[in-house]
Amino acid sequence: MSNSANLIVAIDGPAASGKGTLARRLAEILNLRYLDTGSLYRATGLSVLRAEGDPTNEEEAVKASENLDLSIFSAEDLRSEEAGMAASHVAFLPSVRAVLLEFQRSVAARPGDQFAGAILDGRDIGTVVCPDADAKIFVTADLEVRIKRRLQELKDRGEPVIESRVREDMTARDQRDRDRSVSPLKKAEDAWELDTSKMNADEALAAALSHIRGTGPQ
Ligand code: DC
Repeated sequence: MSNSANLIVAIDGPAASGKGTLARRLAEILNLRYLDTGSLYRATGLSVLRAEGDPTNEEEAVKASENLDLSIFSAEDLRSEEAGMAASHVAFLPSVRAVLLEFQRSVAARPGDQFAGAILDGRDIGTVVCPDADAKIFVTADLEVRIKRRLQELKDRGEPVIESRVREDMTARDQRDRDRSVSPLKKAEDAWELDTSKMNADEALAAALSHIRGTGPQ
């Protein structure tokens, strides 16, 4: 899939590990097209909810994934806890994953002439979507750190925060992501693990860049 003219970077990890911020900044610095694959699952889940459907219903979810129009959702809608929860339900369905897989692979294969390649972040990029990626980074952080980050993110957005609720949701989502039979959240064998528990965003970026450039720990 990849060649020297098309650098593919795969970033995976659990919710609030810092992978989204990292991927966005790497994309800018390395001139890569960025695809936040979680937003595809979030938009699918939200589409089902807006049609007053049930995100665990396979038929409704597949239909939504096939007719996905990301432009109808604001970034705030997509980042909401409601969207995250609905996403984790539709992401459980193999037929939804199959529809979205095709789109993700097409972005990686043809990011556009203006880019030096593509960077995708999600749960199964290194294992399933782009198994031949040039660099694979598995971003982790302790559960307590991730809960704190998510609480801060919600506060910054002015959303109401109930810590016990965020804790419950994140634990449930982690479990669903790791335990599903198709494309579970899992570190690829050849991925490099970056634990951001004690790092700020700049430190995580520096570590990832040196890894990608081949000067850091491999
Ligand atoms: O990274 P995120 O919180 O935006 O992801 C939302 C949900 O989508 C999450 O529960 C896991 C799922 N997801 C997935 O299963 N595979 C991906 N490649 C990306 C996200």
